[in-house]
Amino acid sequence: LLIDKGNHRHFMAKEIHEQPEVISRTLAHYVRFDSNSIELPGGGLPFDKLSKLTITACGTAFYAALTAKYWFERYAKLPVDVDIASEFRYRESPLPKDGLAVFVSQSGETADTLASLRYCRDNGQLIASVVNVPESSIARESDAVLQTLAGPEIGVASTKAFTCQLSVLACMAIAAGRKRGVLSAADEAELVSALVQVPRLMADVLKREDEFDALAQTLAKAPLVLYLGRGSSYPLALEGALKLKEISYLHAEGFAAGELKHGPIALIDETVPVIALAPKDALFEKTVSNLQEVAARGGKLVVFSDAPEAQAAVKAQANFVLPMAHSLVNPILYAVPIQLLAYHTAVAMGTDVDQPRNLAKSVTVE
Ligand code: G6P
Repeated sequence: LLIDKGNHRHFMAKEIHEQPEVISRTLAHYVRFDSNSIELPGGGLPFDKLSKLTITACGTAFYAALTAKYWFERYAKLPVDVDIASEFRYRESPLPKDGLAVFVSQSGETADTLASLRYCRDNGQLIASVVNVPESSIARESDAVLQTLAGPEIGVASTKAFTCQLSVLACMAIAAGRKRGVLSAADEAELVSALVQVPRLMADVLKREDEFDALAQTLAKAPLVLYLGRGSSYPLALEGALKLKEISYLHAEGFAAGELKHGPIALIDETVPVIALAPKDALFEKTVSNLQEVAARGGKLVVFSDAPEAQAAVKAQANFVLPMAHSLVNPILYAVPIQLLAYHTAVAMGTDVDQPRNLAKSVTVE
């Protein structure tokens, strides 16, 4: 298998640009296009018999899991316990009889995630994994494997594996909603048709790389960068900050917009860029009012939204109008600008983008 960077300067850039294609390939594995419905391999999972779902992962995969919590609770009325594996494995969490535990991992080799899987198996759980490497340890020790078809990911900072994980988890949440009688066939068709439009919408966002590059030049000079989001945009705020930290070594933090007033707002002054992920969903007005508080304290607001009125409403310094999409898919779509921002900031700062200091692609020891 020949792996090269193609026309790109770094693997990370290549992998960001591959996303429309690998998401299409991943969705094709789970979607029945004739009926806009989901078909999970092996006849599906027993979502209808669950009182709680447990999802465990590390790093970027954890943020995919945290996003999925919003989807499972909303579309399948299924309570989700989600945690990072290094905490979960020692928490001695009591697990329900005949429960289902899901593990999300690009490599399928992360030591803490594997240890959490074994804890769940020893405590009588059915084990399902969302993995990118089908011959990995986590895949081999799972009862059901839901593959992401992202292809080899070489850049240490995860990009395409993340959006493929989100795509598979969205399919699982829809399947769970059907099986639990929460979604009708028509609801399912609406959500699936939103999902299958993601690659096309994402390709449109990727064409605007120069705009994100220009913004990155200002981030590279900042002392600190904050990311804000609410609802299913909150995990993406955390992922945006992680991405920037990992490859540019800038200090970045993500917060739930509604939590600002409980501390983080003290960090804001006119030198701090605040990246707001504010799609026009049910929480848009709430987010806008949080952003007005940021603007009132002089923060340099940058808004990503599909609502053109967002910029005026919050007196943002910059505004990126993203394509309008179903709220289900916004976290997948909004992942692209935050990846490109991190990438171009790191390039501007001259760091080793594909092999950042102190980090490993796969953490196989505790
Ligand atoms: C490492 C990588 C991260 C990744 C995490 C989990 O820390 O640098 O990019 O998100 O491990 O890896 P996994 O292979 O389990 O998804």
